Amino acid sequence: MSTLPKILVTSAAGKTGQPVCRQLLEKGYPVRAFVRRKDSRSEALAKAGAEVFVGNQYSLSDMRQAMKGVQRAYQCAPTAPNGLHFNAVFTAAASEAGIEHVVTLGQWLSAVDHPSLFTREVYLGDLLIRMPSGMTVTSVNPGWFADNYLMVLDMAAHLGLFAMPLGRGDQKKNAPPSNEDIASVAVAALIDPATHAGKTYRPTGPELLSPNDLALAMGRALGRKVKYMETSEKMMSKALRAHPPSNYSDAAVSQLALYTEEYRRGAFAVNAPTRDVELVGGRVPETFESIVRRTVATRPDLKTNLFRRLGGLTAFAKVLFTPALDLKKIQEVRDYVRLSSPGFSQDSDEWLRTHTPKPSVIVNRQAS
Ligand SMILES: NC(=O)c1ccc[n+]([C@@H]2O[C@H](COP(=O)([O-])OP(=O)(O)OC[C@H]3O[C@@H](n4cnc5c(N)ncnc54)[C@H](OP(=O)(O)O)[C@@H]3O)[C@@H](O)[C@H]2O)c1
Repeated sequence: MSTLPKILVTSAAGKTGQPVCRQLLEKGYPVRAFVRRKDSRSEALAKAGAEVFVGNQYSLSDMRQAMKGVQRAYQCAPTAPNGLHFNAVFTAAASEAGIEHVVTLGQWLSAVDHPSLFTREVYLGDLLIRMPSGMTVTSVNPGWFADNYLMVLDMAAHLGLFAMPLGRGDQKKNAPPSNEDIASVAVAALIDPATHAGKTYRPTGPELLSPNDLALAMGRALGRKVKYMETSEKMMSKALRAHPPSNYSDAAVSQLALYTEEYRRGAFAVNAPTRDVELVGGRVPETFESIVRRTVATRPDLKTNLFRRLGGLTAFAKVLFTPALDLKKIQEVRDYVRLSSPGFSQDSDEWLRTHTPKPSVIVNRQAS
């Protein structure tokens, strides 16, 4: 049995959660991987040596269970509504369980009055997790992930177009990090709290790239000419509606529109690239082209042919005919957090125990 501290990884089947689990396991750390459901991703994590915990990470009961016997944790709110709810649940459970060190995945944009509700919730989550005494924290605040561009790789492969609302094609506005490089910074902090407690890191890729640079890199990896096409946010919302990536709610789309505005304003280029992947993660940051090449190698469907080109054109036509989202309206609506097996107060033993009047109180009541 390992004498190393056990580490809970939340959002373990997600983009950064998977490599965080894998890199920790490679270093010999026992890992509990919090996933929503059993599927091929959780099976792969179990095969790599993780203890898989299936639950709802917005549920305090489940999070309390998941934290049992754990010393450190990776806090990763899903890209979904109610991030603050997740962060509050995580902080309460971590504080109760006496977790010694937390690495929290925040955002490059994290700012107190940010127009994005998700971002403000990240900001608040970052404050909350620092409140319990006796627990140290490291923040990892990446910018726009390289992975986001891979959402439109099909269109690049089959139609030669890289379409996103990123502003002018020639302006260098992001140094996109790979999921694995972000994970390497989180892992370094998880295994060495003494060095990294209290610090904030901003992992990036190795160089600032313009949309035209990104299109060229996609083209080289795909073996075809790819051209950047600047689109509107309205068009992006149509595309995400017509071909939604898994679990992208309308609320998430509305936030993505705010992030593309930040992108055009150049927020992700401020003091980027950083050297955090190299100096903290201990690895050479991966280039965007290499990230695309890795993806292409695992996706035979990206090899184009006449049939797939026709499929690409049909997918494009679907985007044109899909109504756009009313992004402003969505931002005024909040989703409601649901639990799979909710219980009323009196179904809970704990509630009954703490709400049973003490005998003396009963005596007093009877006396009055
Ligand atoms: N993307 C970017 O450019 C970017 C930039 C900066 C910061 N961030 C931050 O990155 C964070 C997201 O990290 P990520 O991309 O690594 O995560 P992710 O890919 O969004 O993964 C989230 C995971 O959480 C799981 N999940 C969702 N609801 C759950 C529930 N109720 N119970 C249990 N599991 C649940 C999902 O499960 P399923 O997969 O089964 O649905 C998914 O595997 C966000 O907080 C965001 O602010 C992102």
